[in-house]
Amino acid sequence: MKIAVLPGDGIGIEIVAEAVKVLNALDLSFEMESALVGGAAYEAHGHPLPDATLNLAKASDAILFGAVGDWKYDKLDRPLRPEQAILGLRKHLGLFANFRPAICYEQLVGASSLKPELISGLDILIIRELTGDIYFGQPRGRRVATDGHFPGAEEAFDTMRYSRPEIERIARVAFEAARKRNKKVTSVDKANVLETFQFWKDVVTDVHKEYPDVALEHMYVDNAAMQLVKAPKAFDVVVTGNMFGDILSDEASMLTGSIGMLPSASLNSSGQGLYEPSHGSAPDIAGKGIANPLATILSAAMMLRFSLNQEAAAQRIEAAVQKVLAQGLRTPDIHSEGTTKVGTAEMGDAVVKALK
Ligand code: NAD
Ligand code: IPM
Ligand code: MN
Repeated sequence: MKIAVLPGDGIGIEIVAEAVKVLNALDLSFEMESALVGGAAYEAHGHPLPDATLNLAKASDAILFGAVGDWKYDKLDRPLRPEQAILGLRKHLGLFANFRPAICYEQLVGASSLKPELISGLDILIIRELTGDIYFGQPRGRRVATDGHFPGAEEAFDTMRYSRPEIERIARVAFEAARKRNKKVTSVDKANVLETFQFWKDVVTDVHKEYPDVALEHMYVDNAAMQLVKAPKAFDVVVTGNMFGDILSDEASMLTGSIGMLPSASLNSSGQGLYEPSHGSAPDIAGKGIANPLATILSAAMMLRFSLNQEAAAQRIEAAVQKVLAQGLRTPDIHSEGTTKVGTAEMGDAVVKALK
């Protein structure tokens, strides 16, 4: 079992170190190889996704990824910015299916900014399409406008697009996942305004015919954003496009207590996967040793489950995380009165101890 370890930038380095600690504490034999990615790779090799890093990722069974990005790279040409590394990995490896499970552990019910009764027992799964949409659509760029409100003015444009096979495959992923859960899929779109998302809705409706045992509802993205905080437990599986999924999953993270709790798995059609927390490199807290490593540790559990066929080990990690939370250990983002504040490394050490 070969794991590519790509810590990246900012807190990526701190949180991946804790996940690696946890993986090493399992009595399994992995081959782990690290490489630079993002801003760190740009500094060393002049490119955020060097060939050596991409080739290592391609040759591995799974990739454990931290986060990339820093404000200081915002003025670079786009192809050189750190974020291009994660976008490039998703595209080159065909990682189209992004699973972002928002589970509220009972111990953290008080950590969320939402009322406890709204989130107690919450277990929803956001499935985000990850290689299409306005993120990758061509053409895009800047030009002088020839029409619109200000002809002759400078303007910028992107292209939102989805093909039928792209929508069909992510819809199938969502229906299959729902079959193993509460058998309900909410497809989130903006069909009332956008042609791309009327097509999305039509194709999801077509695929649904293969899954009569699963309930399908359609919801506009603006309403979905509201319903997620009004009655989050009404959802089971949410399936949506790349951009809406990005936004809704950050929103959903607060249902779990903190963005530092939301893991993710990004899979391709051959079961290879990239595992990363849903959050970014958090430059505002990087280097302080206070980032929550649990989203990354829980992503490592997803890696064991989905790519390495080690379900028992995945469950051991998840149980260990619940145990440290029950012990009252909290990084600052999930800290509340009566609990014990710990740093990134202490939290990782506690998970390792709880595994034993
Ligand atoms: P962010 O997710 O990095 O941070 C948002 C807020 O959440 C910050 O206040 C941060 O301190 C906090 N936070 C995030 N993770 C945390 C953790 N584990 N523990 C405690 N607090 C945590 O988003 P941002 O600030 O908008 O972006 C920062 C950089 O990260 C940007 O360059 C952005 O492009 C990049 N980014 C990368 C990824 C990725 O690599 N997949 C994902 C999102 C953002
Ligand atoms: C995420 C991030 C990325 C995205 C960025 C860093 C490209 O926000 O993984 O959610 O928008 O997909
Ligand atoms: Mn995001």
